[in-house]
Amino acid sequence: MKAVLYGAYGPPDVLKIREVAKPVPKDHEILVKIHATSVTAGDCRMRRADPFAARLFNGLVKPSRVQTLGFELSGEVEAIGSKITRYQIGDAIFASCGFGFGAYAEYRCLPEDGIIALKPSNLDYTEAAAVPIGGGTALRYLRAGGIKPGQQVLIYGASGSVGTYAVQLAALFGAEVTAVCSTDNVAMVKALGAKHVIDYTKSDFSQFGEQYDLIFDTVGKSRFASGIKALKPQGYYVSSYSVGLSPGVNGLWLRMSSGKKLRTRTEREKQEDLLFLKARLEAGELRPVIDRCYSLEQIVEAHRYVDTGRKKGNVVIQVVH
Ligand SMILES: NC(=O)c1ccc[n+]([C@@H]2O[C@H](COP(=O)([O-])OP(=O)(O)OC[C@H]3O[C@@H](n4cnc5c(N)ncnc54)[C@H](OP(=O)(O)O)[C@@H]3O)[C@@H](O)[C@H]2O)c1
Repeated sequence: MKAVLYGAYGPPDVLKIREVAKPVPKDHEILVKIHATSVTAGDCRMRRADPFAARLFNGLVKPSRVQTLGFELSGEVEAIGSKITRYQIGDAIFASCGFGFGAYAEYRCLPEDGIIALKPSNLDYTEAAAVPIGGGTALRYLRAGGIKPGQQVLIYGASGSVGTYAVQLAALFGAEVTAVCSTDNVAMVKALGAKHVIDYTKSDFSQFGEQYDLIFDTVGKSRFASGIKALKPQGYYVSSYSVGLSPGVNGLWLRMSSGKKLRTRTEREKQEDLLFLKARLEAGELRPVIDRCYSLEQIVEAHRYVDTGRKKGNVVIQVVH
């Protein structure tokens, strides 16, 4: 089968299409024929080894543990292991591969108890592939920030993958959402459910005197020191940018000095979160925003685009067999 491998950290052209052995499912695994995957900011950061600490996970000098990126996928169950009870051959599914990655390929085996669900009936494979990581991350960080109906919630970086889901989910949870993005994306985030939009190229959200219960910086670009002044006492500042690293001295100082809380970690990914997203998608309450689609053969070009940091929602890779 075709798969994308990388043998060195670096720019997009470290990604190479290679012919590798098609995997065979073990007893508790399903074999997925992949129809679509995505290029998340996380794939690009793993490719670049950003932060440097990514090398502790994936090899100090070169990628060794994970050599095929691709965080999420949609596809069809082509074969099942002898002990599989939850899925059948032919099921259309969508899934997160988690930090095992491996979706930049024609096939991927996944454990039956992984973050897998039947594909939402109203989404095609392209749309479904763009849900598990962005949607799941937005959901977990909003929950880590204690989201409640009626709260004032600010989403910084509202136009990216995590951001577009965070705006929709926060509005669904009954919060009044203020979104921060650049001029080009103002109309889009408004249409996703933001009540107020602040264009960060024109003004700094912390200077309006508004106070928020929850500030969710999805892209790690807000200024922490001024941002926390816009938090209500006991408010939460959450950031998905740190990819699970500890909030460190900033978090400790914040809590001790003001009672405000910084969260950079969440609970682990759970299958029930994917089922929650599937139900919201099927109810028409949530939708993935798709910016561009590429083929597997165009993976370098797709990574180049995502590296610009300007994607709107999600970039999907369509895998043609
Ligand atoms: N912790 C986890 O479990 C986890 C999981 C997934 C992702 N992540 C991390 O979360 C981060 C976000 O991922 P993502 O996929 O949502 O990113 P993304 O889609 O690549 O973000 C792109 C968006 O960022 C916006 N942006 C760029 N510079 C900005 C700035 N200065 N201020 C405000 N917005 C800005 C852009 O909007 P404009 O063009 O309007 O500026 C663009 O729409 C990444 O660092 C990723 O590694 C963490």
